[in-house]
Amino acid sequence: MVRNKNILLGVSGGIAVYKACALTSKLTQQGANVKVMMTESATKFVSPLTFQALSRNPVYTDTFDEKNPAKIAHIDVADWADIAIIAPATANMIGKMANGLADDMLSTTLLATQASVYIAPAMNVHMYAHPAVIKNMKQLDEWGYHFIEPGAGYLACGYVGKGRLEEPESIIDAVAEHQKSNGLFTGKKVLVSAGPTQERVDPVRFFTNRSSGKMGFAIAEAAANMGGEVTLVAGAVNLETSNKNINRIDVTTAAEMFETMHQQFQANDIVIKAAAVADYRPKQVYDEKMKKQSNDWVVEMERTKDILQSLGDSKQGQFLVGFAAETSDALGHGIKKLQKKNLDAIVINNVSVDGAGFGGDTNIVTYVNNSQQPKDIPLTSKYEVASQLMTLIAHDMKDEAK
Ligand code: PMT
Repeated sequence: MVRNKNILLGVSGGIAVYKACALTSKLTQQGANVKVMMTESATKFVSPLTFQALSRNPVYTDTFDEKNPAKIAHIDVADWADIAIIAPATANMIGKMANGLADDMLSTTLLATQASVYIAPAMNVHMYAHPAVIKNMKQLDEWGYHFIEPGAGYLACGYVGKGRLEEPESIIDAVAEHQKSNGLFTGKKVLVSAGPTQERVDPVRFFTNRSSGKMGFAIAEAAANMGGEVTLVAGAVNLETSNKNINRIDVTTAAEMFETMHQQFQANDIVIKAAAVADYRPKQVYDEKMKKQSNDWVVEMERTKDILQSLGDSKQGQFLVGFAAETSDALGHGIKKLQKKNLDAIVINNVSVDGAGFGGDTNIVTYVNNSQQPKDIPLTSKYEVASQLMTLIAHDMKDEAK
């Protein structure tokens, strides 16, 4: 998977720099084109000349060392790279990346690149467990950077614990494995719905639910990173999208989401409904703000249309995936929805469990397809849940096509 790939190897300053030499050598032997970029601290451990000899390319260390006046070196390398691997990634480099800092050539290039970025941390065990480092890694994970976890064992600082740079072979395996899934949706159109709807009762009040949109946005991001052309129909959320492969359409009410999903439906190959759509809306909507009264205010609610059901009823070859937000007998209720709504698969989350469902950055789900073999995805980030779901969907679509 790395043959003929343009790989930017970012080396930041830690004792594990010596392992980056072996990584450069192995990547080159496997047919990758490797360009190494070192921070100033990294050059204190190993000379750039070593990396130049191993990669057979010039090594970059200084943003202002512009050798070719026709190009701006850090933008040129950023555009050239298909893949960027940061190994070793120090706590400092991770901190810079998570905060958008660009005060050396490597951090500047990483801000400019559109390549898939893999981060292999290496540091002291206590640094790795520090809340600041954990927060920075979480931020990068949410932005779609991929981590190659450090191993545990004897560390150069004398401690025994987690923080040792993963072995070069394992780093290449992890990158190759991930790259394999990268093109899974190339040439496919993916429609995703996310977030809550809002149902107005007067100009200042509405009914809604606790969905933040994070799960659906993570699915859109994962699908786009796997090569899909994504349309994201977003309810009332406070989230941003910057991926150029995601076309975002904002809606507010269940009725607007119904219209938009139906307009987009036929043009898509895969449709995933992670949105939390209102099942009921106020029967009467007031043009003026309702004045407070001394007695109770009873709001009569009417049913909204079930979007997923109507997509299931009108489906023509699309792979249709629903979500089920349950609080008891999650699997039983989820499978009933799979059958009733004519779906190809359903993603069930028990939203009463800690770490699952609404609002947070993690989820715990069970994916069930029509062969009804449940596949559990245990507690992990919503982006990781999304990546695993997309891989399962790609697999099932291949099986259906046979
Ligand atoms: O957004 P987050 O904060 O990240 O939280 C994620 C989530 C909990 C919202 C998500 O994981 C999830 O479970 N989404 C589905 C929520 C839901 O509405 O579940 P449901 O069991 O009520 O509905 C079943 C399915 O029917 C869903 O795919 C839903 O989009 C769809 N539906 C429901 C009602 C309706 N009128 N039209 C629909 O299409």
